[in-house]
Amino acid sequence: MTAPLDHATRKWSVPAGVVGAGIAESDLGTAPVITEALHHAIDSGLLTYLPDSADSAAREAFAGFAARRYGWDVDTDAVATIPDVLTGLTLALTHLVRPGAVVLPTPAYANFFPTLAGSGREVIEVPSRGRGHGFALDLDAIESALARGAAAVVLCHPHNPTGTVADRATLVALAAMAEHHGARVFSDEIHAPVVYDGARHVPFASVSTSAAHVAITATSASKGWNVPGLKAAQLVLTNPADRGVIAARALAPVHAGSVLGAVAAAHAYSPDGERWLDATVTTLEGNRDRLATALTTLPTRPLSVLPAATYLAWLEIGCTPEPDSCGAARLRRAGLATTPGEACGSGYAGFARFNFALLPDVLDVAIDRLLDALA
Ligand SMILES: Cc1ncc(COP(=O)(O)O)c(C=O)c1O
Repeated sequence: MTAPLDHATRKWSVPAGVVGAGIAESDLGTAPVITEALHHAIDSGLLTYLPDSADSAAREAFAGFAARRYGWDVDTDAVATIPDVLTGLTLALTHLVRPGAVVLPTPAYANFFPTLAGSGREVIEVPSRGRGHGFALDLDAIESALARGAAAVVLCHPHNPTGTVADRATLVALAAMAEHHGARVFSDEIHAPVVYDGARHVPFASVSTSAAHVAITATSASKGWNVPGLKAAQLVLTNPADRGVIAARALAPVHAGSVLGAVAAAHAYSPDGERWLDATVTTLEGNRDRLATALTTLPTRPLSVLPAATYLAWLEIGCTPEPDSCGAARLRRAGLATTPGEACGSGYAGFARFNFALLPDVLDVAIDRLLDALA
């Protein structure tokens, strides 16, 4: 099995013959409207710090996309261009969140752990409910952590690694409890462009006045349009008090996103970019359904939740008696590289996160290996 591109991406930096289905990059390429704009920018020598014109174009395009796609009215002044979502988390923790522990619902995107540790925060892992039958935030456990003084909750919405989407009532309740305890919610909405079954993403900050007040939202074109290497994300500050703080303390030009990333974002979030996204989401939904159908042939079903969003499936693989044969290690022995469950929080060693943003023939091979490993 070889990489689908003529060079190894990060996801395909695996030994020859192994399928790269781990890190959240997509093999489906990106929108031609983006690559054309990037070629033009490079040919024009636009390799500088981020100029205001490219920054404004990206922020305005995002506001237009949020209005069309989510029905979310975002003030362009509320949007700041930053290098990536994890930088947004660090900025939030450094400048906007009071001292105190941070609640991280698990399983969680693995890189939240080092980012939180790097910010010197104690992490309170709150396992989600309904391990085998759908995942939901454990609001009672989150509330008790907030009552004990936790300063923030990291919400991943839609959720990596399970692909679940929190419902509006949950988001409203989370916002109310955060406001009550004087805490903030960092809402990572990087996967919001990829939502299935004709559903519409509901931005956390949009669900109530409290949510807009407590939210610090970060998103990016990097997953939906597969441009994570370009380093431009959007920090959306719906609490006006945050804007001055970030502008004064954090966003010197060197902290802003890259100019090529901003060019990519401006075109990703354009109507043309959105048409490409729609077609890609349809392809990914087909991949999800092929995977889900194939897994129904197994006596025990490793997919406890059909992802409602993201191109990630959270599989309960379990362990066999051989050494090194739990979760992702078990799949690795079958020639399939996935993200290990143990990287996503305590108690998830039997799980693996499978990235199904694969080309059709590669998906066939990956599914065969998954079935073989679990048969
Ligand atoms: C939930 C989530 N947040 C953040 C990131 C990283 O994004 P960025 O490169 O913009 O920091 C990823 C990448 O997979 C992700 O899945």
